[in-house]
Order: sequence, then C-alpha cells, then structure tokens
Amino acid sequence: MTIETGEKESKKSGKKTTRGKYIPNLAEFYFKPTHDWSVQKAKRNYEQAPDKLGSLELDTICFKDCVIGMRDIPDSSIDLVIADPPFGIDFNGKSGAYNRKDDFVVSGYEEVDESYGDFTLRWMKGLPRVITEHGSVWVFSGWNNLESILHAARVMGLETLNHLIWKYPFGVYTRRKFVTSHYHLLLFVKNIDEYFFNKIEHYPQDVWEIKRRYRAGQRKNSTKLPLEVVERCIDFSSKPGDVVLDPFMGNGTTAVAAKSSWRHFLGFEMNVNLKEIIRNQISSVSPGEGYTPYATRLPSVDELAERYPKAYREYLKREGQNE
Ligand SMILES: C[S@@+](CC[C@H](N)C(=O)[O-])C[C@H]1O[C@@H](n2cnc3c(N)ncnc32)[C@H](O)[C@@H]1O
Repeated sequence: MTIETGEKESKKSGKKTTRGKYIPNLAEFYFKPTHDWSVQKAKRNYEQAPDKLGSLELDTICFKDCVIGMRDIPDSSIDLVIADPPFGIDFNGKSGAYNRKDDFVVSGYEEVDESYGDFTLRWMKGLPRVITEHGSVWVFSGWNNLESILHAARVMGLETLNHLIWKYPFGVYTRRKFVTSHYHLLLFVKNIDEYFFNKIEHYPQDVWEIKRRYRAGQRKNSTKLPLEVVERCIDFSSKPGDVVLDPFMGNGTTAVAAKSSWRHFLGFEMNVNLKEIIRNQISSVSPGEGYTPYATRLPSVDELAERYPKAYREYLKREGQNE
C-alpha cells in the first residue's frame, strides 16, 4: 500500500524535499477514526437517546413476522439495519452434514415458503421508510440468494455502497465442486449524500477473515453469526445511542453486539423456541461492556514501527525525534 503525500520538487535547488515524499504506510502513523467517543460520552448518548419507536419498546425482540412487525415502526426511526435472512435452500438447521449434534439445535427455524425473490421484496419493502437519511442496511447472503437481494435493493431505491466477503475457514465437504467458505455482506445506504460511515481503520478492506466459532454443547439456533462480524457492521455504520434493527434475530447476536457497544436494538424473530436463548444471551452482557474508543483499538506506534520500519524512521524525523 502506498500513500500519496504529494511529492514536491524544490524550485530553487531542483532537489526533492522531504516534505511531501511518497512514503508507503506513513499515513497509518497519523490515522484517526472519523468519529470517536469517550466511554463517558458514548454512555451519555446511549442513556439520553430519544425514544423514536412509538408503540414499540426500545431494546426488545418481538416474536412475529418481521414483514408485519415493521409496519409498526415509525418513519425514519432506525439508524442501522443488520439482516441475516433465512437461506431459502430447504435448510432445516438439523443437517448432519454440518457436523452438529441435533440435540443442541433448537427446532422451529422459520424457512422461506415462497420464491426467494418474492420473500426478499416483501421484507425489504419496509426498509427505506423506517431508516433515517443517514441510515445503512447490511444484508448477509449466501451466493445462491445474492441476485434476489441486489434486485430488491435496486427496486427499493437503496444504493449499494459495498459488497464485502466474509471468509471463514469452514465449509461442507464436497466431492465434485468447491467448498463454500464465504458469505456475502451487502452494505446499502438510503442517501448516498447523507449516509453515516465511521472510518475506524486506516485501510478497511472488503474481505473479512473471521472464524465461525464452534460452540460445542450449547443450545442454539443452527445459524449463529460470530459476534465479531456483527460488531464490525455496528462499529462502521452507527454511533453510540443509535437504534439497530435486526428483522431476523435468530440467537440474538445483533442485540448482544448492540447492547455491549452502547447501541439500542429492536428485533423480530418468528421462532418462539428461541425466546429463552435470546433472553439469556442479552442478559449475559451489560450495556457498553465491549466498548472502547475507536482510537484505542488502532495499532500502537510501536506495533507500526515493527511492521513498517522505513515509514517509522520518516515519522520520527517529522515528529522531530531521534530513533
Ligand atoms: C439465518 S437466521 C439468523 C441468525 C442470526 N443472525 C444469529 O446470529 O443468530 C434467520 C432467522 O430468521 C427467522 N425468520 C425467518 N423468517 C422470518 C420472518 N419473516 N420474520 C422474523 N424472523 C424470521 C428464522 O426463524 C431464523 O431464526
């Protein structure tokens, strides 16, 4: 990676000046997140967040069809949507191919019983109305449903900002084709001029390598996302105090990620068998417990120095320090 710092030639001597030279990786030493909040400020935003949800209660899960439930959400009241819809591949969550013990998998997973395209159009229809002008929508999708989701987003007038790949070192064994070990994460925004994006890393790439954790011996919905993946969506696309909607709550991953990072949540889930699991998951974290200001999550100067010694020497020079 190279950073353009605007190389200039001294008019008088014709020599290159140090200032403005192309120094790969130097910009990383100076990077700061676009937005940041101290723990106290994040907590205050969370506690003082206006309740915009009308008849719906903040920080709750409604056990009903999200298409029906979303009708009760007031206009422009949701800052971020994280949606991991059912796969629509006749997946009943009990497949032995996934190497799981059926006893630990909660029954009642609600699958799609119409064409995936129609289902996607129905649940995505409500999104542009409920999200704010600065709002974003993250949709998780396997490659098989991608077409339906991109189509529905276009029909709804959502703008595609990024198409990310979540790569995990896991996949169902195959004989005559490649093992699928990635997922698509589509990032849509309502208003391309107004959307919120917090650049919390200097070089945030669109391929995320995050392990799926195998949680042996725990009861769960069959398709739990890793918390880290959902946390990243929240960190880049929302502020402390914002409201995050998950129309397909599953095990409550989005609720846990939101609560522990000073965000509020609202969720829908049709499988009532998940009630207890979701309740336990949510009460296992306290508000803001996972939150630290974004600047503190960046690599330290010492770490950067080890990675980029040349850029470090230049950094010291610019800072007027000796090695
Ligand atoms: C892929 S799972 C979500 C998993 C979740 N992201 C997690 O980490 O646990 C999809 C969930 O959507 C639920 N579901 C399916 N259709 C629904 C609908 N119309 N409204 C609400 N929930 C629905 C299923 O029962 C299932 O739990």
